[in-house]
Formats: sequence, C-alpha cells, structure tokens
Amino acid sequence: MEYQLCPSILAADFWRLGEEIDEVEKAGVKWLHIDIMDGRFVPTISMGVPVVASLRKYTSLFFDVHIMAEEPAHLIRDFARAGADMITVHGEACLHLDRTIGLIHEQGCKAGVAINPATPLSMLENILELADMILIMTVNPGFGGQKYIDYCTEKVRRLRKMAEEREISLDIQVDGGINRETIHTVLDAGANVIVAGSAVFGGDIRENVNILKGIIEEYEDSAGMRR
Ligand code: DX5
Ligand code: ZN
Repeated sequence: MEYQLCPSILAADFWRLGEEIDEVEKAGVKWLHIDIMDGRFVPTISMGVPVVASLRKYTSLFFDVHIMAEEPAHLIRDFARAGADMITVHGEACLHLDRTIGLIHEQGCKAGVAINPATPLSMLENILELADMILIMTVNPGFGGQKYIDYCTEKVRRLRKMAEEREISLDIQVDGGINRETIHTVLDAGANVIVAGSAVFGGDIRENVNILKGIIEEYEDSAGMRR
C-alpha cells in the first residue's frame, strides 16, 4: 500500500494555476486532486473537461478526478479522454453504481467511489472488491476550507478493518479539512491517500508540502517498524 499526498487544486490561485502545480510537483507530489462539481449534487460549480485537458499537456502527475455530480456516467468518457487517471464518483449520485464503476474501467481509468459524511459504510458492502479506491469525505462536499468532521474518523477505521477482513489492500482516501493536525488522526485510522486543499495552497506551497509529506513519511516509517 502506497501513501500519497494529493493537493486539491480547488484551493489554488487559478491565475497562477500552472506555476502552483509546478511547485507541488517539484516538492515531490505524485498525485493531483481535481474537483469537478455540477451545481446540483453539490451547491456550486468548479471546473470541467477543458481544464483537465489543458493541464494534461503540461504535467505527467497522476490525475485523481473527484466528480461531485448527479448521475455522472455520461461524463466519464470525456474526463478519461481529457487525461484522468483515476475517476471517483459518489455512491449517492449513481443509481447503477456497479455499472458506473465498469464504465470507468472500460475507459482505462482506475475507479474510486466516494461517500459523504452522513452516508453509511453499508453502501460499499457489495462494491468493495470492484473499486480501486474508496473516498471517505471528511466534510460535506462542495467547498474547500471547511472543518474536519470528527465522526468520520471512525468510518475510516471501520473501513480499513473491513478491507483487512476481506484481505483487500484497499486505497482509502480522505478529503476535507485535512491539515497539519487532522492528518495524524486520519493516518492513525488507516487512510493512505490524503487530499489537502487549503493546507497545501494557502501560504508557502513548498513548505506546506514538505511538512505534510514529512508527517506521512514519518508515519510510514513507524508503521513499518510496528509490522
Ligand atoms: C470539497 C472538495 C475537496 C476540497 C478540500 O468538496 O472535494 O477536495 O478541495 O479542501 P480543503 O482541504 O481545504 O478542505
Ligand atoms: Zn475532492
């Protein structure tokens, strides 16, 4: 299982988007988290296919595309063609989640399934073996800069246990309110793919990435020693 820090560009300065992505890449980041919103599943709209296609020309970072849209099946081909490597859809937004995961795989992308804070883990019961990653939202999706919701920690812990019991080496992603403090909590609970927006792009990007990556690496080392 690999650990990743995924900067969410929703918190970037869009005027300097290319430069800011360059900075996270130079600081050693491998994944980029790209939030797509439809103004229905979540209250607001963010960016779309042309932004992903344009960024794809300039960076080889792994594109982790988080789609917060109602019935996103019709969007998958376009985002895959634009250069997504992973496409994550919300379980709550897909009437035929099994089929949507299949569509993502058919497009040659990895498939993630996200659930909101109030959605129970039981929604994932039957698709755990089909998805490449589960995203446990740790805020209500729609906006950056919100406060981490504490009860989500227990969901991460229970999901990691569920995956271990089924002997699946599952990537568990967390998204929302992750900073230098809350990152310790989610790592301890079993998350290995860590999204951070304002904690990366707010202030000195290089320094923020170094600190967050440092915490992750320290955790990995100590986990390796415990094994
Ligand atoms: C929220 C988005 C997040 C957001 C996280 O709906 O899915 O990816 O950018 O922002 P922070 O890290 O600032 O909470
Ligand atoms: Zn996100």
